[in-house]
Amino acid sequence: MKLAVVEGDGVGKEVIPAAIEVLDALGLEVEKVPVELGYGKWERTGSAITDEDIATLKECDCILFGAVTTPPDPNYRSVLLTIRKELDMYANIRPIRPLPSVKGILERKDFNFIIVRENTEGMYSGIEEIGTDISTTKRVITRKGSKRIADYACKLAKSRTNKLTIVHKSNVMKSDKLFLDVSRQSAIDTGVVYRDELVDSFAYNLITSPWNYDVIVTTNLFGDILSDMSGALVGGLGLLPSANIGEKYAFFEPVHGSAPDIAGRNIANPIAAILSLKMLLEWHGDIAEATIVEEAVESALNLGICTPDLGGKYTTSQVGNSIAEYVKKRIEA
Ligand code: NAI
Ligand code: MG
Repeated sequence: MKLAVVEGDGVGKEVIPAAIEVLDALGLEVEKVPVELGYGKWERTGSAITDEDIATLKECDCILFGAVTTPPDPNYRSVLLTIRKELDMYANIRPIRPLPSVKGILERKDFNFIIVRENTEGMYSGIEEIGTDISTTKRVITRKGSKRIADYACKLAKSRTNKLTIVHKSNVMKSDKLFLDVSRQSAIDTGVVYRDELVDSFAYNLITSPWNYDVIVTTNLFGDILSDMSGALVGGLGLLPSANIGEKYAFFEPVHGSAPDIAGRNIANPIAAILSLKMLLEWHGDIAEATIVEEAVESALNLGICTPDLGGKYTTSQVGNSIAEYVKKRIEA
């Protein structure tokens, strides 16, 4: 496998090396291609991502990505939006599942759902007009974009409990009527049992009774917000992995950002990045290795080897090292 490794900015530079230590412990044949992207590069060179960088990403089989800082500068085009669009990775998959020995905001831990977020259009179309008195962002929903994300979610639902929830706000935003209609049709065509919910009451339902949900499909901004919110159910943003999948390319990254408030202190939780590696291995077909990585994460948590966000006293590198050591032992056994 040829793997592009993007640390990015902030804690990306700490959690990705931890994930790479775990990858190395697996002993797989992987050619790692480091790619520098992000705000740091922009400050240094005036460009956060170049055409050459995109070409390099496209030459690799997949990408492991940390996080990048996006400054609120109107002249700065988000690196992530650029990559998702250039590589046309339309499906953002965010599994939410409790881990052992970690408490979320609820007592019950019998839930396991996946947010399937449309990743290329909606509120993040990038079509904007910035003025002094009026600023607008165009929300774009297309039949093609809705169909491919709904089809993806239905396929995923079929491999699980065959239950799909379509989340939208079509009562107020007419653009979501198209998303809802296309998603319903996809569920009907594939024989998936579906229901739909309005995003506002859905947010309340999800955070109070997550066990009622399995696969959730929604538009870009809603999916972004709902997945960060769901972090509270499982013990924090430092635990949430994600995948961005397209027809040709795949990209794996923690849900969290560059966390400038804790960056540079070696205290960021590397588990979101390590579980993103696990998703990458699954996608690549290295199922046994993915299972070992997951077991290794669970073992560290059970032993209380965790970073301060989970109440632990270990550093990022110590947690990564402990998980890698477990993996090494399992591989050698
Ligand atoms: P954030 O996800 O970076 O941080 C939110 C909160 O979660 C902070 O209190 C942070 O300390 C904590 N946190 C995040 N990751 C953690 C980890 N691994 N371990 C322990 N605690 C962790 O979101 P924020 O602060 O809104 O954004 C910071 C920067 O990151 C911004 O420039 C934003 O644009 C960018 N960002 C980048 C993303 C990406 O590259 N995929 C995604 C989200 C934000
Ligand atoms: Mg986000």
